[in-house]
This record gives sequence, C-alpha cells and structure tokens, in this order.
Amino acid sequence: MPPVTTSSSINTVFDALAAVDVDLLVIPWFEEEAPEAVPQLDRAMAGELARALAVKEFQAKPYETLLVPLTDRTWRSRRVAVIGGGRREQSGTDLLRKLASTAGFDARQKRVGRVGFVVRGNGEVAALAQAAAEGLTLSEFSGASYKTYDAPPATPPMWTLAVAGRPQTTEDAVAAAVARGRILGECSNAARELANEPGNTLTPREFARRAAALAGDAGVRVNILDETRIADLGMGLLMGVARGSSEPPRLIVLHHDPPGAPATPVLGLVGKGITFDTGGISIKPADGMERMKDDMAGGAAVAAAMRAIALLGAPIRVVGVVPTTENMPGGRAIKPGDILTSAAGKTVEVINTDAEGRLVLGDGLWYARQLGATHLVDVATLTGACVVALGKGTSGIFGTPDAWVGRIRQVADRAGDRLWPMPLVEEYREQLKSEIADFTNTGGRPAGAITAALFLKEFVDDVPWAHIDIAGTAWADEARPFMPKGATGVAVRTLAELAFAMSDVNG
Ligand code: BES
Ligand code: MN
Ligand code: ZN
Repeated sequence: MPPVTTSSSINTVFDALAAVDVDLLVIPWFEEEAPEAVPQLDRAMAGELARALAVKEFQAKPYETLLVPLTDRTWRSRRVAVIGGGRREQSGTDLLRKLASTAGFDARQKRVGRVGFVVRGNGEVAALAQAAAEGLTLSEFSGASYKTYDAPPATPPMWTLAVAGRPQTTEDAVAAAVARGRILGECSNAARELANEPGNTLTPREFARRAAALAGDAGVRVNILDETRIADLGMGLLMGVARGSSEPPRLIVLHHDPPGAPATPVLGLVGKGITFDTGGISIKPADGMERMKDDMAGGAAVAAAMRAIALLGAPIRVVGVVPTTENMPGGRAIKPGDILTSAAGKTVEVINTDAEGRLVLGDGLWYARQLGATHLVDVATLTGACVVALGKGTSGIFGTPDAWVGRIRQVADRAGDRLWPMPLVEEYREQLKSEIADFTNTGGRPAGAITAALFLKEFVDDVPWAHIDIAGTAWADEARPFMPKGATGVAVRTLAELAFAMSDVNG
C-alpha cells in the first residue's frame, strides 16, 4: 500500500514584494489596474509591465501570463510573472484558488525550484490566503501515477505565499488559514488519487484499506465491515449489487468523535463507492466505459473529507459511511425484475441494474442513521441525467429542508465547489411505482436526476438530508489551465468545511 504522503508546509511572508526570495514570483493582476497598482513593480520589470499593458500584449484576462526576468537586483526574485485575473470586483477566493493552481502548474512544468505567489484580490485576506494555499497544493497533483517515463517532476516546488501590505487580520491568523488551505488541498488531492485509480488496482477491499489508512492516520476511528457483517445487517441492496462480482463488497465506516463534543448534531457523510460500474446485466456501451473507474469519487470525497475533519479538529461528531462494491455482470448477478430487500425493510424491484448507486446508497444512508446521524449529506456520481441538466461544471444538490440545502450551498461557495439546487418534485415519485414491490429503482428518462434523488429520500426518515450529484463534476474531460484531465476532488472541501459551519446547528 502506498504510504500516506505528508508534504512540506507553505512558507508565508509579509515582507515587501522586493524582499521575497524565490526563483519566480507570481502576481495576480486585474484588468482595470494601472502599472503603479503594485509599487516599484514596473520599475523592477524595466517598464515591461506598462509597455505590455499599453499595447495590450497583456490584458489581464484570466490565466493570461506575462513572464519577465528581473535584472533589478533590489528585488530578490529572479523572475516575475503577472497572471491575469480579469475584473477585480469579480475576483474572489474562487478565482484566486484557480490562479494559484495555474501558476503552480506552470511552475512545476518549468521545474522552477522556489515559487512565490502574491495574495491579491477581492475579499478578506485570510480567506484569500487559504484559497491560494489550496490552489498551490492542488497544482501538486499528478494523475500520471503509472507512467514509467515522461512523468511530470515528482518533487513540487517550495511554495511561498506573499501577503503584501499590512493584513487586516493578524499574521498568525493568516498563517493558520494557509495551513488550513494546505490540508484541504492535500485531502482533495488524496481523493483525486483514489478516483483516478483503475478498477483492477482499486477493488472494494483495496479501497477500504486505502480509505482506512487515509482517515485512520489522522485519528479517525475506522471500522471496515466485510460481506458477512453486511449480510447480517440485512443490507440486501448492497449485497444485491455485489452479487455480479467475484470481489466481495465492503462497508467503510469512519468516526470522528472529538473529546468533549456535544452529543448532537452528528453529521453523517455517505459516499457512493462503486469501484467500477459496468452497468451489470443492463450493461453499458463500450464507448467511454473506462471512465466508470471513478464511480467511487463520492466515497473518496467522504474518506478524504474525514481525514481533513480530523486533522483540522472539527468540534462536532461526524460519521462517514461508504458502501463499496463493483457492479459486474457475473453469473450470479442480479437481473432486471429481481426484488431486493433493503436494511430499512423496504423492497425494491430492480428494473435496470445500472441504477446501482441509489441501491448501495439506500443501505448506506440507513446505516448512517443507525449510527446516530442527525444531519445527512450524500455525494455520488449518480446520474447521467444530472450531467445533461447542469453540465460538467456544476453539481446538483437536492434535499430537505431548504435551510439545510442553503447552508451547504453557502459553504460550497466558499470552498469552490459549484452547486445548483434541483427540485424534489413529489409528483415524480409515481415514476418509481412498482406492481410487485414498494418501488422500482428507475423512473425512466424524464427527470432522471430527480427520480434518483426521490429514491434516496425513501431511506432518510425525517432528518435534514442533502444529496449532491457529482456525475458531471467528478471528472474533467478537458484540461484547464488550473486542472488537468481526470479526477477533480470535488466536494472534499465542502464536506470538510461543513463540519465547521455546523457548530450553531442543534440536533
Ligand atoms: N455511475 C452512473 C452515472 C454516471 C453517468 C456517472 C455518467 C458519471 C457519468 C450510474 O450508476 C448510472 O449508470 N446511472 C444510470 C441510471 C439509469 C439506468 C436510470 C444513468 O444515469 O444512465
Ligand atoms: Mn450505473
Ligand atoms: Zn454508477
């Protein structure tokens, strides 16, 4: 098993920019700014900044960069790059995170040893510094784990964050925000690594081992239930999906129980952990099926968020539940028309074996309730319909009551995960009607993301619950300046920050 990597910290300095001792200093630049916006900079750049701005060679559009070697030896950095941030009023933590990531990514490609990034933008300085630290850390991720040659450099640069001018908050508060951003970035990368891992190496048992190491090393109490325990608990939905595979299922259970935490609230995080989704007997077409190795991205987000929650010392109790199995068309696989009985006692007629995520989550949500969760969030690569509705850049959020969904949206905005609310239209519950069982597992093509959410709602009692469909957002099909192709680490930071935003929620 690969060791859980711990990396160096990010150096935070409050000196004048001229004094920042790095090989490359990256400075965000906004469209409406005059060259004097950063004192002495244009002079140090021998007038290059003013010239490039005047002739529009550099227009400060997002991610555009202008790199200039410094000959002015009163500046300690050997080179400076300005990176465009668009209009300043529209820039906030989200943009700064992406700018830092872009800068870090470029610097890694160029094998720069010591990189400085200047915290500038619209917003409170500690929040901006945290986002920048997240961005630099996200840039360390490489998806090329199995390349034997031509791999990107393994050792990341030494990072320095430069906070120019006197911060509105204390230097300690800014340094703490940077340390927090570092942890959240590393945990996002850990989730990305798991989701990138192929189905043959990351089997349910291996996923359980890796999740246990990831969270356990941070002080999370881990309990891995095997197929016997899962069957004893009556989890017919999880056992049903697992029948088609020769790999046994697992239930990953993670507890964060800080001493002195109040009995309630208890946040329950539930993640879909399908290590490979062939569709089962309702098999998927070959084209693009390889991507279904990331069908455990929700489960990876839960495990990685539990690590962050423990490392950052969230003051409330949190339980993480990840039902994990393959969805395979083996000789013992469930067939369309089969009836399964959930641990909650409700019966399900399986119409389509490819709607397996909601099955395993049904038992997972029930178990989180058994463990005392008073507030639930599930995260799942659940439906192609959600991708059709919201695209690749926005996750769908469903749930009840509105206040609970609203709180998660607020947290997600700050964490840089874009969510958009989708309606739980009660009338559509009819689409799940079964003649023989309590309900079916598919509701046809219309409103496919909503009927999937309505299915999950059958397993949550009356507690506040939200379902985040990350089918579109878990995986980047195209590289962006700030993000390579592959697993994105979506929802990790939102889930972790949610555990802190809940101290004023009572059970
Ligand atoms: N894992 C898929 C959903 C998915 C699709 C994730 C595309 C990422 C990209 C899920 O298990 C699935 O197959 N859903 C079906 C449900 C249908 C059979 C009701 C779907 O969306 O087609
Ligand atoms: Mn499926
Ligand atoms: Zn699936």
